[in-house]
Amino acid sequence: MYEFHPYFTNDGSVGLYSPVYNDIYHSATGALTEAYEKFVMPAGIDKLLNKDSIKVLDICYGIGYNSKSFLNYIFKKYSKNKNKKLKNFFDQDNNIETIHTNNISNDRIKNLNANSIDTIYTDNILDKIKNKLQNITWLCNRCTYSIHTNNILPKIYIKAVDNDNILSYLSPFIETGKINFNNNTFDFEHENIDKYLIKNKKLKTQKIHSEINYLILCNLIKSDPEILKNEDLISILNNPKFSEYFDKNLSGIFNFYRSNIYKLSPTWGKVSFLHNIYYRYISNCYKKHLNSLCLLDVDFELKIDDARKMILSDTNMYDLIFLDAFTPSKCPCLWSYEFFKELYKHLNEDGKLLTYSTSASIRSAMKEAGFYIGYIFNERENKYTGTIATKNKKLIKYPLSEFDLGLLKTKAGIFYRDKNLTGLNEAIIESRKNEVKNSTRISTSHFKKLYKQEESCHMM
Ligand SMILES: C[S@@+](CC[C@H](N)C(=O)[O-])C[C@H]1O[C@@H](n2cnc3c(N)ncnc32)[C@H](O)[C@@H]1O
Repeated sequence: MYEFHPYFTNDGSVGLYSPVYNDIYHSATGALTEAYEKFVMPAGIDKLLNKDSIKVLDICYGIGYNSKSFLNYIFKKYSKNKNKKLKNFFDQDNNIETIHTNNISNDRIKNLNANSIDTIYTDNILDKIKNKLQNITWLCNRCTYSIHTNNILPKIYIKAVDNDNILSYLSPFIETGKINFNNNTFDFEHENIDKYLIKNKKLKTQKIHSEINYLILCNLIKSDPEILKNEDLISILNNPKFSEYFDKNLSGIFNFYRSNIYKLSPTWGKVSFLHNIYYRYISNCYKKHLNSLCLLDVDFELKIDDARKMILSDTNMYDLIFLDAFTPSKCPCLWSYEFFKELYKHLNEDGKLLTYSTSASIRSAMKEAGFYIGYIFNERENKYTGTIATKNKKLIKYPLSEFDLGLLKTKAGIFYRDKNLTGLNEAIIESRKNEVKNSTRISTSHFKKLYKQEESCHMM
């Protein structure tokens, strides 16, 4: 049977332990906290919201915290703005014209009354029209046009990749943000897991909107209906031992859908059927949320594959790349110079690649591949916790210090190589080990010593 070792991290979100890698998949601080602090917050998403579309590549999707947190951030922001807009609208005592529409036409836009506040409720506002509305607002500064639409979000496209299908298929069901939990109730590899958990440091974090898990589930079923028959997935979802870790609503929907799918007539769309089930199962509060989001504007595609193979056949350009592979010493194939060269080709000019790793070898591989690099600053911990890589120097808020740049030139800065992007991790590790052994570069410890000496000389 598939090995699945869940635990609750310190912020109440579910983390996983891998006996194969003898490593945890998620930081003890909190799986969700980590996703926010290392990927979502430093991504500068607010600036991207002005674009017509945002493309994200989530490398090493796992159980999906990075994609989910990204969507959660956008949905929250969007709901907040929407409420603010509504409040402004009701506070105005003006001549109000309201248009409720599912499809607003160009003519209607042209004829908007410049002296009134026009409010347009629409489910479907085309980009072309959206631009026009912005122009009108700009031209007629005596009036305000408020637009409440379910479709004003930029089009969001997330491509996620992981080579572990079961993990990815489990992702929509994972419970996030549980508060009272006890790690010792179940019989998992807690001796190993506890090594990584810092107890008594419980954080509270945001909970992922259930709609996001629902959206992911819909997309998974749509793109790969085989997941409904996946025996490993089914046995994990139905195993009472794991039930604590799953969102019961979503597991219920899945089971109900599975048992009813065969009764569908061919004319019924699978997703609309799933949609109906969802409506039956969910509370009114969820229904309200679901209505306020335009789920159709989010395209989520999951590739179950080696990320190296995926990138070689991918033609997209991304605004954000999240790289969340296991540490370089355990999974060097996703940290090689050649892999970063491919990522460089797929990043937009104003895009950002984000990772939690601070290792000198990955930073020098990024630099060699053409990126500008800098730190990710964690405000809660008041320290640098990761690396950001861009094609545009101006986007680097915290450039590397002289010391960290110096480290790149030492033996620690010798990067992993994977010429054809097909090497095995063991072989890649072995070949770097040999390169380090035969290198004439200064050793890292010697460099550190010299640097310290120089620093103390300057201080005198
Ligand atoms: C640290 S975990 C990622 C956690 C994940 N971001 C999440 O939110 O759950 C690393 C992931 O890398 C995946 N992985 C390992 N080697 C890979 C490869 N060559 N290609 C794609 N994914 C890989 C593993 O299956 C695992 O899910």
